[in-house]
Amino acid sequence: MKNILVTGGCGFIGSNFIRLALESLTDARIINLDKLTYAGNLANLDDLDADLDADLDESQRYKFVLGDICDSELLGKLFAEEQIDTVVHFAAESHVDRSIDGPSEFIQTNILGTFALLEAARKSWVVRDAGRGTRDAENQVEQFRFLHVSTDEVYGSLGDTGLFTETTPYDPRSPYSASKASSDHLVSSYYHTYGLPILMTNCSNNYGPYHFPEKLIPLVINNALNGKELPVYGDGKNVRDWLYVVDHCTAILKVLQKGRIGETYNVGGNSEKQNIEVVQTICDILDEKVEPLTAGQPRRSLIKFVKDRAGHDRRYAIDASKIKDELGWQPSVNFDDGIRMTIDWYLHNPAWIACVLDGSYQEYYQKMYGGR
Ligand code: NAD
Ligand code: DAU
Repeated sequence: MKNILVTGGCGFIGSNFIRLALESLTDARIINLDKLTYAGNLANLDDLDADLDADLDESQRYKFVLGDICDSELLGKLFAEEQIDTVVHFAAESHVDRSIDGPSEFIQTNILGTFALLEAARKSWVVRDAGRGTRDAENQVEQFRFLHVSTDEVYGSLGDTGLFTETTPYDPRSPYSASKASSDHLVSSYYHTYGLPILMTNCSNNYGPYHFPEKLIPLVINNALNGKELPVYGDGKNVRDWLYVVDHCTAILKVLQKGRIGETYNVGGNSEKQNIEVVQTICDILDEKVEPLTAGQPRRSLIKFVKDRAGHDRRYAIDASKIKDELGWQPSVNFDDGIRMTIDWYLHNPAWIACVLDGSYQEYYQKMYGGR
């Protein structure tokens, strides 16, 4: 049985990943280490808890640990007691706008937290490896994996043409992307310096169930449902390459199982959209599915162009041919279907939305959008 430490498993992508991994990796135990920041929510795994309660064998395959990836003592204990042999590292501060407003948490968790995790992994890996006596390539393949989940934002901003490949030079522009870039370099250095068996994925924009409504798609769905303005930064022509979250999770599983040690794999949706197109699409689908709040008023009328994000990257687009050619992964959900599935999920889960829109969210919203 593999013992997988998932960090940040109560966030958007981490919770989708845990659900998929428990289903697909039937010989794995998952230990989910999460600090439960504003973005971490135990309710993201509520359905899983219900399933686990019903099945004792299953419940032994999942454990939640409340804690911080910066806590080296806790990490050392977890690696030893839980016999961790695989790390899938999601935990991070993930929202660009928050990083502009206050970068220090990003430096702390994304850089120092990743460093603490790497150190704990390295120490545990060396001890286990010493037990076996060798550190040859075959043993590495058998024993240990450290998969670092990163972003396409580390590559900077594209013009009208071109795609990010795994060899595109790093050029991060926001405190968020700079902190992720820094963590990527640390992870890479642990492979080159110590031989730690790392893997890295750099993915484009995800969307889907359990996405926190500070990010464009869930924010627009929530506001449009409630007749609130839909804030579009700048001219609305910035481009993102959207990937349905479950597809990102299948890519991570593929890389974990078949990826070559030390390699980076870009993951993308082949689905470039201007922000304004995304917002208009959501408005139109909601008009089709839900009564308008004011008769005869289409939701597009709620769109408001607002002051741009500082240093707003113009375009991201991923060349995902390496993961396709080497590992046979490609996205299975196109944007038209994925955005409908996402909207349906939000329509069917009002209790989840209500629970995340607490007082601190209202404060955040007022601070970010009040004077915009
Ligand atoms: P998220 O903000 O939804 O979740 C982050 C999770 O990490 C939360 O559960 C939070 O409680 C936890 N966390 C934060 N600081 C922690 C700490 N110090 N110790 C332990 N747990 C901590 O993020 P997400 O959107 O799910 O992104 C997950 C990862 O994927 C991040 O590393 C992000 O950079 C990367 N990524 C995200 C996207 C995207 O579109 N969302 C795309 C590419 C890569
Ligand atoms: O590319 C991967 C990245 O995608 C991840 O690394 C990040 O963790 C994730 O948050 C996401 O970053 P973005 O900044 O691209 O996502 P966000 O949803 O914040 O914004 C998407 C686009 O929409 C971006 O061009 C800014 C714009 N936007 C965003 C918000 C919140 C608006 O126009 N209005 C808004 O209110």
